[in-house]
Amino acid sequence: MKIESDFLVIGSGIAGLSFALKVAELGTVAIVTKKEKAESNTNYAQGGIAAVISTRDAFEHHINDTMKAGAYLCHRDVVEIVVTEGPERINELIEVGVQFTKNNDGLDLGKEGGHSHHRIVHAADLTGKEIERALLAKISAHPNIRVYENHISIDLITEHHLFGNEKLSKDSIHCWGAYVLDVEQNVVKTFLATTTMLATGGAGQVYLHTTNPVIATGDGIAMAYRAGAEIANMEFIQFHPTTLYNSGSPSFLISEAVRGFGAILRNKKGEDFMKRYDPQGALAPRDIVARAIDTELKRSGDECVFLDLKHLNAESVRSHFPNIYERCLKHSIDITKDLIPVVPAAHYTCGGVIVDTNGTTSISGLYAVGEVSMTGLHGANRLASNSLLEAVVFSHRAMETIRHKERNTMVAKNIPDWDDSGTINSEEWVLVSHNRREIQQLMWDYVGIVRSNHRLERAQRRIKLILDEVKNFYKRTKVTEGLIELRNLSCLADLIIRSALERKESRGLHFTTDYPNLDDTNWLKDTSIT
Ligand code: FAD
Ligand code: SIN
Repeated sequence: MKIESDFLVIGSGIAGLSFALKVAELGTVAIVTKKEKAESNTNYAQGGIAAVISTRDAFEHHINDTMKAGAYLCHRDVVEIVVTEGPERINELIEVGVQFTKNNDGLDLGKEGGHSHHRIVHAADLTGKEIERALLAKISAHPNIRVYENHISIDLITEHHLFGNEKLSKDSIHCWGAYVLDVEQNVVKTFLATTTMLATGGAGQVYLHTTNPVIATGDGIAMAYRAGAEIANMEFIQFHPTTLYNSGSPSFLISEAVRGFGAILRNKKGEDFMKRYDPQGALAPRDIVARAIDTELKRSGDECVFLDLKHLNAESVRSHFPNIYERCLKHSIDITKDLIPVVPAAHYTCGGVIVDTNGTTSISGLYAVGEVSMTGLHGANRLASNSLLEAVVFSHRAMETIRHKERNTMVAKNIPDWDDSGTINSEEWVLVSHNRREIQQLMWDYVGIVRSNHRLERAQRRIKLILDEVKNFYKRTKVTEGLIELRNLSCLADLIIRSALERKESRGLHFTTDYPNLDDTNWLKDTSIT
């Protein structure tokens, strides 16, 4: 079955939805999304969106904070673009209907790690949910947009599908859309479009403990990689320092905004240990705080550290963090009276599909925005709350580029439908669940907060076996959601390990005991894989 539109958007988080709303003024839009439409990393965002709003703040401060958090690997031109265009994009979100929290002076501005000023625009501690609500309300009312829920994209359609396996020049690859599995009907559909937008988010599910919901399996990065796009900086996986200990899977986040509000990180002895690691204490950038917690836990043998809010005004805590308050209460923790046990968990994929300042990838007709992309903004460590911001700034820039560009309106007519002849409905589904779990466990144990050549090489040997096994299984088996995700998770694990082995220094989120120092002479550059 073929479905044609001007624009195909893969993903319904902030990046996909904000892009779709904008390009719907230029043509028809099909949004495919693998679960229910609100299910995305966006929907769980707590802290908010960073932007220079206060008169006490300045673009230069936000630019410097971003550069510093990113260990100076951020592309300064990109940082300047995102920071200076940010406030306008926040106003647009307000116009779309997002209800951000206000105080007597206007927007209430929170603070998070690595920020020198209060600049986090938020909707209590449920910012992402409010953004999804408002964007989806507009999307459902738009006559040019159709959303396909429970549709998981398998692969991008490129010349490879038209001309077979002969070696194509990387410069001549064009994307014509994607093959997508309709999970409910169990049929693979061919979505064709002159412009395809990858907005599939990150890959936290590669790790055993993550804040990311189950959708975050790195599908977009894997699809783009298989299609021949350039991928960069995959070694920089951000671990959020504070997730509720033993809260299940995915791990429940205790927002950094809680520390911005005055919470103190303590070890089991009650020490405010962060003071020993960084002058900014608990509000140091995330890589530093997560590594400090890791060190404390390894040194003491304890299972968690604690967030202490007991000295803060209880009513204020409840009104600023209603969601965190309620969720902790379910675990019999009253955050106004009890210490909150916390541990780090995988949170954000800083690397991804390389794009230029307009969201254009190295494949013609293919754009990427949001967490799936590598714009150069985050460098070696993303500054808190710069992610939602990056998504709206790049969605807008991609739309502007498309609007001013002469579009190729010709959709390839001879694209073959999905061919699964020769494949069977396997009875070995245990392979999928076992290998998914094995990838998550080995990435957590060997490719986590602190790395070494020995651990990375051990992980690589095991991933190679899994990659081969999955490849063979995929060739002879009818696709399912689980198999599609496993194929992508194994690809992502491989990309992360290869990038981590390539960088022979420690910078930002990549810390290895074999090269514990920063090496600006040789390594002030991105790692890339094609
Ligand atoms: P997502 O919001 O993850 O959306 C991806 C979409 O793609 C989903 O709809 C998914 O179903 C779909 N998809 C994926 N693969 C496929 C496929 N194969 N086929 C079809 N559809 C597919 N950032 C901030 O800036 N501020 C915060 O306060 C903040 N808090 C966070 C809290 C949590 C708990 C988490 C997990 C992240 C947080 N982040 C925060 C990070 C931020 O939420 C994400 O980086 C951002 O929302 C990514 O948006 P996105 O649109 O790129 O991807
Ligand atoms: C948080 O609220 O701590 C998450 C913010 C972010 O990931 O940017």
